[in-house]
Amino acid sequence: MLNDKQKQLVYIGSDHAGFGSKNELREYLKESGREVTDLGVFNEEGSDYPDIAREVSEKVLETPGSFGVLLCGTGIGMSMAANKLSGIRAALCNDENAAEMSRKHNDANVLTMGARTTELDLLKKILEKFLVTKFEGAEPEGERHLRRVQKIGEIEKEDKKREEKGEGKNFNKNFSV
Ligand code: RB5
Repeated sequence: MLNDKQKQLVYIGSDHAGFGSKNELREYLKESGREVTDLGVFNEEGSDYPDIAREVSEKVLETPGSFGVLLCGTGIGMSMAANKLSGIRAALCNDENAAEMSRKHNDANVLTMGARTTELDLLKKILEKFLVTKFEGAEPEGERHLRRVQKIGEIEKEDKKREEKGEGKNFNKNFSV
């Protein structure tokens, strides 16, 4: 884990819809003294948000104490994809309050935002709030938040066990892909 004096490590990524905002936020992060790694995309050609969500999330899992920031059109696809990785708690935030609560109560380690739904100025404010807010789970009165986040981890473990045992899931066979 990083101590307060160490630079925050941030991995950032977007699909084509979030490309412009992602570049702006990358510069904002650098200017505000964070160590930021841009994992793409690097142009506005059509791209698939799950690819970038996976790359950023893997880096976050490999680097304790780091955060991920993901932008797509709405932030929805990025949050869905990132949350598929065990250990990732991605929060789609459209305002500063959501960002604050996602850190304080949920110990979110990835922030996702909508570049087509949220103005740049607000994106910066949400990002800043996310990065400066600490999880309350380590404080004596925050024990319930730690317990709840740990329960998310238990769901992941049980899901993995079911998959290893080859136990089926009740997928709706009628949906189309
Ligand atoms: C791309 O058109 C758009 O679907 C994507 O950026 C994102 O909003 C998906 O959730």
